[in-house]
Amino acid sequence: MSTEFNLSRIDKQRYRPASDVEDTLDELRRNLIVGEKFRVGRLAIARSLAEEEPVGFLSKGTEMGTSIEGQTLFGEDSPIWASLVVEACPDLVTSIEQFKGLVEAHWTRGARLLQQDLEAADMKPAKFITTLAAMAKDRIGSPAVLYSDESFEIPQNTGEIVIRVGELSLNTKGDSPISYVLNGPGISPHIAVLGKTRSGKTRTGIVMAEQIAAQNGLPMLLIDPKGEFISKGAFVRKSEWQGRTLADRFPGIKAIDVPNQPIPLDFLNRSPRPTPIELAQLAMGFKDSFQKCLRAKGDAALNILRQSVQDLLTNSSAPVSLEHVLDEVQDANQRQGRGTNTIEAKLSEMCALNLFRPEIAPHRFFSGRWAIGLGDATEESRRLVIFLLLDALAKYLLSLPDSQTDAEGNRAIRHLLVIDEAKEILSYKHGALSNLVRKSAAKGGIVMLLSQSPDDFSGEEDDFLSQIGSLIVFTSSTNSVKDLRAALGRRLAPEDFSDKNLPTGVALTKLPKHDLMKVRAWR
Ligand SMILES: Nc1ncnc2c1ncn2[C@@H]1O[C@H](COP(=O)(O)OP(=O)(O)O)[C@@H](O)[C@H]1O
Ligand SMILES: [Mg+2]
Repeated sequence: MSTEFNLSRIDKQRYRPASDVEDTLDELRRNLIVGEKFRVGRLAIARSLAEEEPVGFLSKGTEMGTSIEGQTLFGEDSPIWASLVVEACPDLVTSIEQFKGLVEAHWTRGARLLQQDLEAADMKPAKFITTLAAMAKDRIGSPAVLYSDESFEIPQNTGEIVIRVGELSLNTKGDSPISYVLNGPGISPHIAVLGKTRSGKTRTGIVMAEQIAAQNGLPMLLIDPKGEFISKGAFVRKSEWQGRTLADRFPGIKAIDVPNQPIPLDFLNRSPRPTPIELAQLAMGFKDSFQKCLRAKGDAALNILRQSVQDLLTNSSAPVSLEHVLDEVQDANQRQGRGTNTIEAKLSEMCALNLFRPEIAPHRFFSGRWAIGLGDATEESRRLVIFLLLDALAKYLLSLPDSQTDAEGNRAIRHLLVIDEAKEILSYKHGALSNLVRKSAAKGGIVMLLSQSPDDFSGEEDDFLSQIGSLIVFTSSTNSVKDLRAALGRRLAPEDFSDKNLPTGVALTKLPKHDLMKVRAWR
């Protein structure tokens, strides 16, 4: 029996990738993973290990590139690398030659996969890195413990949810009443209500949200960018509701008027025993949201921001505020002898506005009913608030186990998100919103987006609209109806959405289990 195959042999061995991938690796090293050669080598091996498919040995006679010693390639983590390589191989690994062959095959395959990933990301570093980070998440799965208070039960409402289109909900052909099941099997429960200003979309959306939330105490988050429902720190009495407020229609809902009142959400909350990957993803998510909302540029400064958030999250378990982030960024800039930059200045501006006070953990916050009014917020702070709220909601909701279905296959509902005036937010292609639309249905999430025109969705991925089960389109001016074609399942022309075709109160609708039809929502 040979005893030659052990960890110190692994360290002493030299490994090399096939020579034809060396260009790819050098290119990555020049642009993205700068520093020693082993870094990009490790990334390539890890990329290949993330594949389900076992790797095949390189064929004999493959021309090989330059080598790195195991000690350098794997560093202090060689036991972990060795375990991962052995575990990924369906056969028993019994010799150092076999092990070396596997490492070299992974290295080579990983380099090719990275090249493909980079091309799929249109050669954009940020997109490429986000894709890689998302892969890590999929493999690790959701953390076992979601929150520290074990007594907490995820609120959910079982049974079918039957709703109508606005107050009247009459098919214009024959005036027959229309209603439908929102959470039935195989149905996307998300809703988009589109139409030009004053076409009645907010009012219709609120009526529909009320029908959904009639299920007792269904948690909800309503985002009111114009401050139509919340002003001066309180709910607005609406004349068209005979002086009633949002709170009369959604019992228990609390108003927050940003920036006059801070949102009490711990927006950078991590699970009780976070993995380094969870923390890295949180920090990266924060950086992305910050960058998007400020349209910020400056790779180095943004990288310091990300690193600062990651350090804060790693070094303590206390809630992190924007002020903490600012302090940390200022320290980092000073330590590195950098002056203040725009990122720091913007962060300081946002801190002065007192947007968040991180008091309530997401699982508690998103178990309540909140209406966030942003009528007095600046454009940038409005975006930051919405992005950070959506980041936290997506992280919370998507970490939950799938919600139950009843005997008829109706999915239990856990949360309703309503975004009015979603046009602006849609234009930012924000990851959390698209994740909520794509993935939250299985978790019992419902997303309702109210926006002006089908064109507002053109910033999103091509299939974004087709992930939305209920489309309700009032008269709208639209240039391109190509996005609607897939979603509505029919060829349409811009004229189909004109005032002539859609008189006041009438919407063209595509509802689950119904054909395309015109429905009168209000008169
Ligand atoms: N069901 C309804 N009954 C009467 N008037 C309505 C109804 N729905 C909307 N309206 C009126 O139409 C106008 C615009 O409605 P709104 O929902 O604010 O439109 P949008 O959100 O598309 O700008 C408001 O003055 C509103 O009172
Ligand atoms: Mg409106």
